[in-house]
Amino acid sequence: MASSDFTASPAMRHSPAAVRNRQPILEVLQAVLPEQAEVLELASGSGEHALHCATAMPGWRWQPSDLDDESLASIEAWRSACGPGNLASPIRLDATREWPSGKLDAIVAINLVHISPWQVTEALMARAGETLIANGVLYLYGPYRRHGQHTSASNATFDADLQRRDPRWGVRDLDRVLELAGRHGLVLERVVEMPANNLSVVLRRHGSNAVGNASSCDDDGIHGPTMSA
Ligand SMILES: C[S@@+](CC[C@H](N)C(=O)[O-])C[C@H]1O[C@@H](n2cnc3c(N)ncnc32)[C@H](O)[C@@H]1O
Repeated sequence: MASSDFTASPAMRHSPAAVRNRQPILEVLQAVLPEQAEVLELASGSGEHALHCATAMPGWRWQPSDLDDESLASIEAWRSACGPGNLASPIRLDATREWPSGKLDAIVAINLVHISPWQVTEALMARAGETLIANGVLYLYGPYRRHGQHTSASNATFDADLQRRDPRWGVRDLDRVLELAGRHGLVLERVVEMPANNLSVVLRRHGSNAVGNASSCDDDGIHGPTMSA
């Protein structure tokens, strides 16, 4: 759209980090999702990832969501100002409560796992196991510990800060997340190093009715070049 058509709204929030990481995130999603896909994004926050991904990929029907009013207002403000037709109005969704029915090709959760209680990740994995189609993708983005260790001093500092803000939050160990995922039929496909010591974690739902026996991952190595912001 022409910039002169754009009307800013006070409800629009702006996340500088989202603006930095949205293109690298899109590139990982483009590598693992088909051209046509039904995508549910949890914890969409400002809505800038949703706007960027839906605009770039008209064949993805992108459903943003969040649980707080400010985020929902921001997502809707971006959507109504400049969102494409394949970007749906946001829905209120608490990952630990009831989810919309219907099968999904992908679930996207950017910066949710470490900024929420562990029960949210448990609910996310359980619902992903139920609602993703066979070979559907669960995409996670954020900082993770690897084999119990922080991957950088800045992640260790960030972890301490998160736990000060809420003792139920914290940078999770990827092994623990993968073990939980495996219990719900979600198998690690790739880990991609991202800007600022974050990881993209791509899990794929095992073929039909495979829930419960997929705890071994073929490969938990880091794939691909480090993407720059
Ligand atoms: C750090 S923000 C991330 C926002 C956005 N994904 C980004 O990266 O800019 C965390 C988001 O998680 C949402 N959130 C927290 N607990 C949640 C839950 N139980 N279910 C769904 N969303 C939740 C918050 O409302 C907030 O928007």
